Amino acid sequence: MVDLLALLKKMTVKQKIGQLTLLDFKNQARLEDIKEGRVGALLNIGLDQDTNELQRISMEESELKIPLLIGDDVIHGFQTIYPIPIAESCSWNLDLIERNTHFAKLEAYSHGINLIFAPMVDITHDPRWGRIMETCGEDPYLTSQMAKAKVRGIQKAVDGKIVASCPKHFTGYGAVEAGLDYNTTDYSIHRLKNLYLPPFKSALDSGALTIMSAFTTFNDQPIASSRFLFEEILRKEWGFEGVLISDWAQIEQLIPHGVAKDKYEASLKALSLGIDIDLASKVYLEFLEKVIEDNPDLEEKLDSAVLRVLKLKAKMGLFDNPYTKKVIKPLGADLRKMAKEAADEAIVLLKNDSGVLPLTNTEEKILVIGPYVDDKDVHLGAWAFKGNPKTCISVKEGLEKTFKKAVFYEVKPNDSINYDKIKELSLDVSKIIVTLGEPRDYSGENHNRQFLDLPFNQNELVDALATFNKPIIALVFSGRPLAITDLNKKAASILWCWHLGVEAGNSITSVLTGEVNPSAKLTQTFPKTLGQVPIYYNRYQTGRPELLSYVDGNLEPLYPFGFGLHYGNIKYSQMEVKYSADILQLVVKVLLENESNYPIYEIVQVYLSSKYNQKLRPVKELCGFKKEMIEPGCQKTVEISLALEEHFEDTELMNELTLEIMAGPNSQEGLKQTVQVKGGQVWLISKS
Ligand code: GLC
Repeated sequence: MVDLLALLKKMTVKQKIGQLTLLDFKNQARLEDIKEGRVGALLNIGLDQDTNELQRISMEESELKIPLLIGDDVIHGFQTIYPIPIAESCSWNLDLIERNTHFAKLEAYSHGINLIFAPMVDITHDPRWGRIMETCGEDPYLTSQMAKAKVRGIQKAVDGKIVASCPKHFTGYGAVEAGLDYNTTDYSIHRLKNLYLPPFKSALDSGALTIMSAFTTFNDQPIASSRFLFEEILRKEWGFEGVLISDWAQIEQLIPHGVAKDKYEASLKALSLGIDIDLASKVYLEFLEKVIEDNPDLEEKLDSAVLRVLKLKAKMGLFDNPYTKKVIKPLGADLRKMAKEAADEAIVLLKNDSGVLPLTNTEEKILVIGPYVDDKDVHLGAWAFKGNPKTCISVKEGLEKTFKKAVFYEVKPNDSINYDKIKELSLDVSKIIVTLGEPRDYSGENHNRQFLDLPFNQNELVDALATFNKPIIALVFSGRPLAITDLNKKAASILWCWHLGVEAGNSITSVLTGEVNPSAKLTQTFPKTLGQVPIYYNRYQTGRPELLSYVDGNLEPLYPFGFGLHYGNIKYSQMEVKYSADILQLVVKVLLENESNYPIYEIVQVYLSSKYNQKLRPVKELCGFKKEMIEPGCQKTVEISLALEEHFEDTELMNELTLEIMAGPNSQEGLKQTVQVKGGQVWLISKS
């Protein structure tokens, strides 16, 4: 075991600063930087680079022989690309998410990655924001559960070591105004504590070893100089002892933020306020030595930061063995199978008029038309830098194996709509499948939109198809909710396909044929129009709820949080709310009956509405969920316990709580009971 304090003692200031410097391998770092100890961490190392050689240089040619952190953005897979996070979140399947995150980590570790800049646990109410595709949806409780699952998946031991997770971006990044990445944010301490902080607290409580700060601001400070968030919340209130990593060049950005006059001051502020590692700005490398020379009392802050980094590397097992080995075959059949399971559970059936789906007759002649008929790139989604479009199964490749008589016709974004041609193609087909939505570069970091419409010539294409009186099945690819009210009127069925990863075409085929019964449910509200944004299910109580409306429309979303259909349906009955003997645990029981001929994987959701509180609370709050398979013609009683302490502070729990509890298939419908809870007793007040 390395004596870290002895190691720290023999380090020069230069060598200490090297441990706080993370550089982009492609454009910033040189091999002699590693040898001279000027860099302690790297990112963006290509698949063609031997990371063990980089570790060897550090372990054998440098003076101090300190292993390197090698980071990467493994957001939804490494080489095997899974559905984008917002799609994956629609599975509500924590075991699936944890397992797939672990296997994605194995693939990344096999290339030498030992630090993963994930999970992204930001929350947003604005689908214009490009990074909504990275989120787990709009609900803090669901995001918190997924944060825990992802931290467990990333940090589950491999090869006797731990790959460090890095929940990001601490915090409130999703509050950017107008959906513009990096823009102003302005939110209350109440919203900070009840919406933005809980997922980070859950991630750190699950043992996350590092955390990454957000580009944005809180109150009157850029987050990179927020004493309140770093010292008061992270270090004092939460007792976090791990490593705080800045976002890309964020420390230098204190200058354009207007709170540092130059890089010298920026580096002094960031170190003083608690940023341990400078990601890719180089201001620590270039200015901290002078800062310490001029401010010797800051060397204590420097030492604390360096010691946290050394402890991190020791905890990860890097001093014992910095080298990697291939622990799994990239893009192997086992990984592709996992990617397909994730995609199967990410596709949301939004509409299915008169049971147009599933397509059980594979002999029928169908037209498959649109911009993504045979496109592979769209399925990668954003943040898939090690992905390769060639590894994706296109819609055509998926369908043509099953539907031998299908006709495929590409309509590219800039094509004019050849009405006569598509009319001719539609004449003798029984149904039309149209591929629609956004290319993968319409979302992701700083890929924001000011419209939420179907882009390019797609509305014109749908209008033309709607004149042929054939059932239209829409497959919509996107990195965000879109305002598709017109499509919603013209399509008989709508499958929301997000960006599904390498197995897209196969999953879509499985769902279209009914081999897979869609089970996904939305984790982000779908607005009718951009004008409704911000729109989310768990808004605060208001003083005139009955008057909330527009002169040109109402407040109802197109599709609410938690919504998703199946082939067949589930009947809910016999709801019961009781109090378990142990700590504050309300238990909700409900009977589910599957009256269809299809197996249904139902996501039962439980929401609470708390009446008469000491402060503002949301009109309703997700407080429990369970995903249960109900076989055809069968029934099952599902029991869900509600950890009320995750929703109420102790002081609130000591009082009498009047709660309306709803158990159902989404945030807008279900069985309800109003109960009073006090001192371990529950009194039923009413039911509906
Ligand atoms: C980016 C992103 C962050 C990512 C980091 C390293 O700017 O904001 O999510 O982890 O830089 O690539």
